[in-house]
Amino acid sequence: MNLCLFITLLLTLTVSGSIINYNNDDDDAQMWLDIDLSIRNIGSRMNMNDTETNNIFTDKICFPDIGCFTRSGPMKHTTFLPQSPETIGTKFYVYHVSNPKLEHEIDPHHLQTSPTSMISNGKRLAFIIHGFGNSYTTERLVSIKDSLLSNTDDIETVIMVDWKRGAAKPNYIEASVNTQVVGRQITFMVNQMKNVLKLDPKNVYLIGFSLGAQVAGFAGKYSQTEYGWKYGRISGLDAAAPLFEKYPGSFLTKDDAIFVDAIHTSAGHNLIHGEIGFIEPYAHVDFYPNGGHNQPMCHNLLKISCNHYASVLFFDASVSAHNVCHFMAFGHCPNWSAFTEHKCTKSDGQMGYLADHFHMNGVQYLSTTNSYPFCNI
Ligand SMILES: *[C@@H]1O[C@H](CO)[C@@H](O)[C@H](O)[C@H]1NC(C)=O
Ligand SMILES: *[C@@H]1O[C@H](CO)[C@@H](O)[C@H](O)[C@H]1NC(C)=O
Repeated sequence: MNLCLFITLLLTLTVSGSIINYNNDDDDAQMWLDIDLSIRNIGSRMNMNDTETNNIFTDKICFPDIGCFTRSGPMKHTTFLPQSPETIGTKFYVYHVSNPKLEHEIDPHHLQTSPTSMISNGKRLAFIIHGFGNSYTTERLVSIKDSLLSNTDDIETVIMVDWKRGAAKPNYIEASVNTQVVGRQITFMVNQMKNVLKLDPKNVYLIGFSLGAQVAGFAGKYSQTEYGWKYGRISGLDAAAPLFEKYPGSFLTKDDAIFVDAIHTSAGHNLIHGEIGFIEPYAHVDFYPNGGHNQPMCHNLLKISCNHYASVLFFDASVSAHNVCHFMAFGHCPNWSAFTEHKCTKSDGQMGYLADHFHMNGVQYLSTTNSYPFCNI
């Protein structure tokens, strides 16, 4: 660990107490250092503390309900097998529009005894999936849940997925590999709901932030290979790039649901500059607000996690402020420079929750403001 760098990070976090602060997020500086260190340690796996499943003599591991994982699977470049469902401890918490703060845990094996009236047919059911070092109580994701329940007509039920033990710092490699398990667990749950509660998967909407977007990708792949159905929609909020981008088969793509949309806010591979998000487009429609690398509310010198979380803030605002303004997006635009030179004037739709109301595809650019509700028009 580079001590100078670490001190710089600490200083930056300390002096950044601006008025509305989108910048200071707990110990995120450490989080990005963890990612960096984990990735540099790939290949020297013997130095790391192997988990129960990562005995180097094991090439395949199988679990009840969700099948087997092999070392030569989609995360083969990490050389790791995922941890067990027991270790990851995934939990599902359901919330209903009738009382958005009241939570019930649901178990895919006991749906009959769960508060199943909360899963209404014909309405959309949204899952919110957190990323590395987060949990289902991460404030900005809870805010999305509350916004979806209070500001949409078509979502009556939200399930927060909690895989905090599997996503825990500091081992980013382990967390990345565990996305496969959590994705399959979500799909097993939805398939149970399909069978027991007659839920239509077309009405299921997965919203994943960072590594949570890759969880959603694995959920979408597994639903098709294992059960032969597709999710209605997946939204990737600044999908995590490290260990996914450039490894086909490992990351969320447009094949994983009927409609897949992406918001890119920290695109790049330079962790030190707060870049952690996917660069390349991967969805049916890919939004690059403010060009997709740097967001206007992020003032820190190093912008550690601010750019990354901006995807969550924008998505939330697209729900909670949809009556106030819109995130009009512009396709048919060769690059961000052309956009800033006012050469792209044709808008086909909006970024965020309403993206599926428009016939858009491909790369879309837009600018935002630097404070809530961020939208431009
Ligand atoms: C690995 O982790 C286990 C449990 O966390 C601990 O008991 C053990 O001492 C660790 N081994 C090494 C080599 O660090
Ligand atoms: C952006 O696109 C325009 C038009 O295709 C092109 O002339 C220009 O060189 C591009 N700029 C960059 C920075 O790629």
